[in-house]
Amino acid sequence: MNAGIYKALLLIALFLVPVAVLAEEPASGEKLFKTNCKACHNLNQPLVGPALKGINTRRDSAWIYQFVKGSQAMIEAGDATAVTLFNQYNQVIMPNQTVTDDELGRILAYIESAGATKADANPIQRPVVEQWPLVKPMKFTDFFFWMPFTIGVLALIFMLYAMTILYDASRETKVNE
Ligand code: HEC
Repeated sequence: MNAGIYKALLLIALFLVPVAVLAEEPASGEKLFKTNCKACHNLNQPLVGPALKGINTRRDSAWIYQFVKGSQAMIEAGDATAVTLFNQYNQVIMPNQTVTDDELGRILAYIESAGATKADANPIQRPVVEQWPLVKPMKFTDFFFWMPFTIGVLALIFMLYAMTILYDASRETKVNE
């Protein structure tokens, strides 16, 4: 093997890095809620902070975003709702959350949907019918995507390897001539 093939392999490896990064799916609202908020908030009952079920209808979203990212600033500025809440919850300071707007959006969507499932749950039990999934959204973890992809990469490596061998061979014949 010569240095060329190592370079080729390195190049391929570098191309695969962004693919691996893309494959990482964004954390779901539920997961974000569990890691950032669950210590103090439950959906249905007050914990350290208020129950968050129905928060999307109770407050407007601009207020929620501002409060989650900087509740103390709002309280100091004299926002009536924030001050009332603060006093109601024993003046426990809710730490400023470092979630991005996008992540908070997903957390709120999760709170909304989790609340909806509870309220809409049908009290009459119906048998669960297993259904063959006719259409599934493509995922980066899909076997049928990665199979041909892996074969493709292997073929590419093999091709490059064959090319270097051919190249070496042709150079040797030139030297021998
Ligand atoms: C360390 C505990 C703590 C954590 C962690 C925390 N909160 Fe809070 N939260 C509170 C407290 C306490 C209040 C009540 C207001 C106050 O005391 O300032 C509150 C109030 C709120 C309110 C206003 C509720 C209402 O009824 O208007 C929202 C919205 C909220 N939190 C969302 C979140 C979200 C979203 C997260 C996670 C990203 C989170 N909180 C993480 C303690 C916490």
